[in-house]
Amino acid sequence: MTLALYPGSFDPITNGHINIIQRGLNIFDKLVVAVAINVRKTPLFSAQERMDMIREAVGSDRVEVDCFEGLLVDYAIKKQSNVVLRGLRAVSDFEFEFQLAHMNRRLGAENKNGLDTVFMMTGEEHFYVSSSLVREISSFGGNVSGFIPKSVESRLLEKFKNDKN
Ligand code: COA
Repeated sequence: MTLALYPGSFDPITNGHINIIQRGLNIFDKLVVAVAINVRKTPLFSAQERMDMIREAVGSDRVEVDCFEGLLVDYAIKKQSNVVLRGLRAVSDFEFEFQLAHMNRRLGAENKNGLDTVFMMTGEEHFYVSSSLVREISSFGGNVSGFIPKSVESRLLEKFKNDKN
C-alpha cells in the first residue's frame, strides 16, 4: 500500500488543495493530510479548526487528517511513509519547494526508506489561489465563494464577524 503525506498549513484549506488531494488519490492508496504547526506562521484558525475543515471538505476513507509539530521527516517515520505530496502552483513556488524537497531527502536519508517528494501541478483554475489571499479578501468582506468549500466560507464569515464584535 502506498501512503503519501500531504503536509501544509491549510489555513484554511482551499479548492486548490482539494484538487491536489483528489488527484493524489488516483496515484496513492492513502493520503495523510497533515496540518503543520508552523512556527513561522501565525494562523487564523487553530490546528483543530483546520483539521475539522479538511474533514468536512474531504470525506474519503482513504484520507486521514492529522496534525504534527516538528520535522516532517520525523513525522514521516511515525506514519511509516516515505512519500510527500506537494502541489506546485507557479514558477514562484518552485524555488522554495526545490529547497524543501532536497532538504527532506537529505534529512530522510538517515532513515531506512528515505523521504521523496512527488509534485503535482495545481489545477489551472486554482493556480492563483492561496490561503492568505482568501483570508485577506474575506476579512474585507470580499467574495471568496469560488475558492473554498462552502463549510470553510461559513467559518471565515463567522470568524470575521466575531472579530468585528
Ligand atoms: N492550491 C492553493 N493554494 C496552495 C496550494 C494549492 N494546491 N498549494 C499550496 N498553496 C498555498 C497555501 O495556501 C499557502 O498559502 P499562504 O502562504 O498564502 O497561506 C502556500 O501555498 C504555502 O503553503 P503550504 O503548502 O501550506 O506550505 P507551508 O509553507 O505553510 O508549509 C510545510 C510547508 C508544512 C511542508 C513545511 O513548512 C514543513 O515541512 N514543516 C515542518 C517542519 C520541517 O520539517 N521543516 C524543515 C523542512 S526541510
